[in-house]
Amino acid sequence: MINRREFLRLTGTGALAMLAGGAFHGGRSVLASEEKAFRPDVELALRAAPAEAAILPGAPTQVWSFHGDLIRGPTATLQPIPDSYLGPTIRVRRGQKVRIHFTNDLPQESIVHWHGLHVPADMDGHPRDVIATGQRYTYEFEVRNRAGTYWYHPHPHEQTGLQVYAGLAGLFIVDDAVEDGLNLPREAFDMPLVLQDRLFNPDNQLVYLTHHMERMTGFVGERILVNGRAAFQTPVAPRPYRLRILNGSNARIYRLAWSDGRPLTVIGSDGGLLEKPLITDTVMLGPAERVELWADFSRWGKDQEAVLVSKFIDLAAVSALPGAGMMGPRRGMTGGGVMINGAPHTLARFQVTGDGGRGPELPERLAPLEAFEVPRTGANGRTRRFDLAMNHMRGTINNRTFEMQGVAEDETVSLDSSEIWEFVNRGGMPPLPHPIHVHGMQFRVLGRLGAPFGDVLDQGWKDTVLLMPGERVRLQMRFTDYPGLFLYHCHNLEHEDMGMMRNYYVRA
Ligand code: C2O
Ligand code: CU
Ligand code: CU
Repeated sequence: MINRREFLRLTGTGALAMLAGGAFHGGRSVLASEEKAFRPDVELALRAAPAEAAILPGAPTQVWSFHGDLIRGPTATLQPIPDSYLGPTIRVRRGQKVRIHFTNDLPQESIVHWHGLHVPADMDGHPRDVIATGQRYTYEFEVRNRAGTYWYHPHPHEQTGLQVYAGLAGLFIVDDAVEDGLNLPREAFDMPLVLQDRLFNPDNQLVYLTHHMERMTGFVGERILVNGRAAFQTPVAPRPYRLRILNGSNARIYRLAWSDGRPLTVIGSDGGLLEKPLITDTVMLGPAERVELWADFSRWGKDQEAVLVSKFIDLAAVSALPGAGMMGPRRGMTGGGVMINGAPHTLARFQVTGDGGRGPELPERLAPLEAFEVPRTGANGRTRRFDLAMNHMRGTINNRTFEMQGVAEDETVSLDSSEIWEFVNRGGMPPLPHPIHVHGMQFRVLGRLGAPFGDVLDQGWKDTVLLMPGERVRLQMRFTDYPGLFLYHCHNLEHEDMGMMRNYYVRA
C-alpha cells in the first residue's frame, strides 16, 4: 500500500452501462420496508454511471456521475447543473413524500446517502445497504427537515472518498412555508456553489491518492472546481443573490471571504436559515458543511467584479498549539503551494452586468430556530464523550474503528431523548482537523474549547462540525422518530474510509 501509485482510471465499462437501459428495467428492487400505504408526491430515478465531462480545455475527463429522471411530481424537482458532472439538484418541499429509485451502474458497489436529512435508518444509505452493479435500491421517505441546503453522495464501505472524488454528488434543497413568507432571492438569483478540489494528470484525467500520506492527511487537489467547472465565473445582475455554498471536497477546508475585504453576510448554515443575518469577514467551511450568503452585487457597481476567495489557513500554526499533540516538522505546510490544505485560492468570479432592478431587502429576521424539544424527558441530559484520533493509518473514535454492524453499549441512545455529545480532537501524529458528521439528524453546537479560529460557523442547525487539532466541541443532540442504526464519522473522506466512523444505535 505504501508508495503505491494509483491513478484513478474511470473507464467506460461499456457493457455495464448498457445493462442499465431504462431506469426501470433490470435491477433487483431492494426495498427494505415496503409500505403499501406510501403515496409519493415526488418520484424519481437516480442512476450512477461512468460519464465524460468537459472540465479543462482539451480531452474530456472520465468521471462518475448521477443522472436523474423525474417520474412524478413538479417539473422543478430535478434541476440539472449545466455543464457539470454533478448530479441534478433535487428540490423538494417539507412534508412531501419522496420515492427515489437508485440504480447502480458503476463497476463497483454503491449506495446513496442523503446528507443532513432526517430519515429512517434503512433509507439513510448505510454502507451495509450497498447494492452491486446493475441493482436497484428504492428509497421512500417524508421530507421532515426545515428548508435548507442538504446534499447527497455515495456511502459504500471504504470507497466513499473515491466515488465522491470521481464526481458522485448533488444538492438536495428543501423549501418550506417559513421561507415562502420571507422575501428571499429566488430562481436565477438563488445560486448553488459546490466547491471541490481536483488533481488532473496531463491527459486531463483525475488523479486520486498517489501517496499514502494523502490518505493520512486527506486528499487535496490542485484546482478548485465550482459546480464542476474550473476557473468558475458567471455574470450576475446588480442586485441581491442567495449563494448556497457546499464544501463538497474530500478533505480541503476553505476560509471564505470577498477578495476586496468587504464583509460576508451569512444567512444560513447546514440545516437552513439562521435566526438573523450575521456579518463577518471570513467563514471557515470544513468538508460537507454548508453556508448561505446574501450577496448584494449592486454594492460592487456596474461592470465591477466580485471575487469570492479562500484565505490562507495556517494549519501548521494550529497544530503547534498546546493540546494539539506532538508536532513533527511539517514540510511544505506553510510553503504556499496550491496543493496544501489551507492554501489561498480564488474560488469564483462574479461579473456585475446589466440592470437588476432593486431586488428584495435583506430581512432583519430570518427563520426561527425552534426550541429544542424532545417528547420524553426521562433519558435526557446524558453526556457522552468521543475522542478522535488518526494514528498508524487508522482512524479511531474512542479507540474503535468502523465495524459494519458493530455498535457499543456507550453508542446506544434512547429514542425520544436528548443528550450532549462532546467530541475531542486529540491531535495525533500528525495533528489533523476532523469535520465530524452525525447521520439522521440536525444538532446544535453548544460551545467549543481551544478554538484557534474565530470564524468557524457554529450557528443554526448543524450536521457537520469542524474540529481543529486540540479542540473540543459540545453538541446538543436529539433522537426522534426513527429507531435503528445510524453513522457518525469524520467527513474527511479519506479518514472515513480509514475507519474514523462508527455506528450509533437508537433504541426504541
Ligand atoms: Cu455526507 Cu456519512 O455522510
Ligand atoms: Cu450524512
Ligand atoms: Cu478526520
